[in-house]
Amino acid sequence: MSGAPEISASILNADFAALGSEVGRAADGGVDSIHLDVMDGHFVDNLTMGPVVVGAVRAATHLPFHSHLMISNPLAFAERFAEAGSDLIIFHVEVGDDPREVIDAIERAGKRPGIALNPETDAGAVHEFLERLDLVLVMTVHPGWGGQSFIAEMLPKITALREEIDARGLDLPIGIDGGVNLDTIGRAHAAGGTVLIAGSALYSTDGDLTPTVAALRGAARGRPDADIDAERT
Ligand code: DX5
Ligand code: ZN
Repeated sequence: MSGAPEISASILNADFAALGSEVGRAADGGVDSIHLDVMDGHFVDNLTMGPVVVGAVRAATHLPFHSHLMISNPLAFAERFAEAGSDLIIFHVEVGDDPREVIDAIERAGKRPGIALNPETDAGAVHEFLERLDLVLVMTVHPGWGGQSFIAEMLPKITALREEIDARGLDLPIGIDGGVNLDTIGRAHAAGGTVLIAGSALYSTDGDLTPTVAALRGAARGRPDADIDAERT
């Protein structure tokens, strides 16, 4: 059973000239975590940020930092992202590194491990690691860019993964990453997604993000956000 919807702010589409205050804006808007999209130009055809940037914005909020490593060599960088202030370090099952070794390295650094699955990767690829994870991230876009459209064909994969996790009695949330917005977040949560990552759906809005976050949370539950506001006060 997936829990109450959590909204995680992907900063990939934030104003990089003011990244610290953009992180603070999402935190003030009521998100549950910050999602930092790390890209190395090899695993994906884009290059974004490294541990130095994670460290630079760490002081902007006490919220959990989820570092999404779209990089070919997570084993070599796990400790540095941990030291920079990541709380959850998510790597891709498609990389060449042995996932067991990457999980070991993340745990040795005192942080929580997550694994991400590209759209073309079957959920079975992570079954052997489920007992060791704190998040499974299902990509609902092809990684590399924000602002893409949600791949609805991923919904059955999310549900099947949720059923597998529940069958094992694990307290393991599923993250949904890419194209999550007011139109797609309800289906993403209903399919079994708990951590709902929103990038452009958040940062396309200027100023106070509170109404946008409340609307996303309400849409995730399929209820008007006014109900959610009442519940949260
Ligand atoms: C894509 C990233 C996602 C994405 C989210 O490679 O992992 O986090 O940027 O941004 P939106 O919500 O705009 O798809
Ligand atoms: Zn991401």
